[in-house]
Amino acid sequence: MRVLVVGGGGREHALAWKIAQSPRVAKLFVAPGNAGTAAIATNLPISASNIPALLEAAKRERIDLAVIGPESPLTEGIVDIFTEAGIPTFGPSRAGARIEGSKAFARDLMVKHGIPCARGATFSSLDAAAAHIRQQSGSIVVKADGLAAGKGVFVTNSQEAALQALSEIMEKRAFGDAGNRVIIEECLMGKEVSLLAFSDGETVAPMVPACDYKRAYDGDQGLNTGGMGCYSPPGFFDDKLLESVKRQVLEPTVRALAKEGSPYRGVLYAGLMLTDKGIKVLEFNARFGDPETQVILPRLKSDLVDILLAVVNGTLAQQSVAWSKDACVGVVLASGGYPGSYTTGYPITGLDGMGASVTVFHAGTKLKDGQVVTDGGRVLNVVACGKDLREAREKVYKAIPSIRFQDCHYRQDIALREVQ
Ligand code: AMP
Ligand code: GLY
Repeated sequence: MRVLVVGGGGREHALAWKIAQSPRVAKLFVAPGNAGTAAIATNLPISASNIPALLEAAKRERIDLAVIGPESPLTEGIVDIFTEAGIPTFGPSRAGARIEGSKAFARDLMVKHGIPCARGATFSSLDAAAAHIRQQSGSIVVKADGLAAGKGVFVTNSQEAALQALSEIMEKRAFGDAGNRVIIEECLMGKEVSLLAFSDGETVAPMVPACDYKRAYDGDQGLNTGGMGCYSPPGFFDDKLLESVKRQVLEPTVRALAKEGSPYRGVLYAGLMLTDKGIKVLEFNARFGDPETQVILPRLKSDLVDILLAVVNGTLAQQSVAWSKDACVGVVLASGGYPGSYTTGYPITGLDGMGASVTVFHAGTKLKDGQVVTDGGRVLNVVACGKDLREAREKVYKAIPSIRFQDCHYRQDIALREVQ
């Protein structure tokens, strides 16, 4: 088979790495990819948002399966366009991807179908939203409705801070049209965890749970980022909880989308808060998580291509999806200044000789005159598996110091709470 992965981050390197292990794959392309994917696939220099150029390349290269990484082409309808052109494509349709593309859509769906989420309301007028905030007390969560690269959510401690967040979204339009509507929610307390699942529109096959670290610095200080590290499995997530999330969240959401006329095929990513009042959904994503994928796929024992095809063909019920009992820890090495402004183009050294139990997934890297250089905010994911989180964590943090680039910064506390 000839497979195309769309995207160029750590998630796509991990997807390409796992897909390349399938005996079914004869040729693998990544668009645009990075320096890491260049070592295991053919990179095509096409942006993940340039759907017409991607389609042309997919036809030219006679692609048998396209796998879409990032949210933006999904919400733009890449799966509908590719499918119409006869290219089997993994990911939800444009209608299905609204579960991520519009937080208001996701909230309405959850409320209508009894899927547990935070109490809240949606506003399309600044004045009405401000008036609502003035009636709240304590912590208030303000969210831009549309896609905002993980930066559109403000968890605030006062009315003033919430009003400021509202102004950022609706007045200063920091996220453009994504801020045409806002969601104002109660602040949920508890343990945060992500559970992703494969769905073919009917059957739901959960992956293994993972915990992401969204803040930039140790101890959850600093700004929200796309994710600074991740581990799987969280110690508190037992089989009973898995069953509950499947029954209360994943299955009803897939059923609800089918009922609303947009059967969901792809990865359904549920961001959850485990509160003292039970499981609550924080957000849905319409794709694999980044950096969750980098710690989930190393634990997948089954052939990923078989699973992706079963999702596309609607035969997931007959497909085995097996996971290892290993633990996996991934740490993001970021450019100094990220998630704010940062400089790129710094040479990266020490990438060779990591040893068999440590994998480096590239995120923001590229090749320049044969040298790997930094090319983004999140630069690398260093990932290790072990018999437990302690062992995986030790391996990762032992490997990291040999990798060097200017102004590299990373969190020292990924999975620390699990081993203390
Ligand atoms: P989201 O992109 O919706 O997952 O939001 C980003 C982060 O904001 C989440 O990972 C949570 O840590 C936090 N968050 C979102 N909604 C809430 C909420 N209602 N209560 C508390 N924290 C939240
Ligand atoms: N790590 C969070 C996300 O992929 O949205």
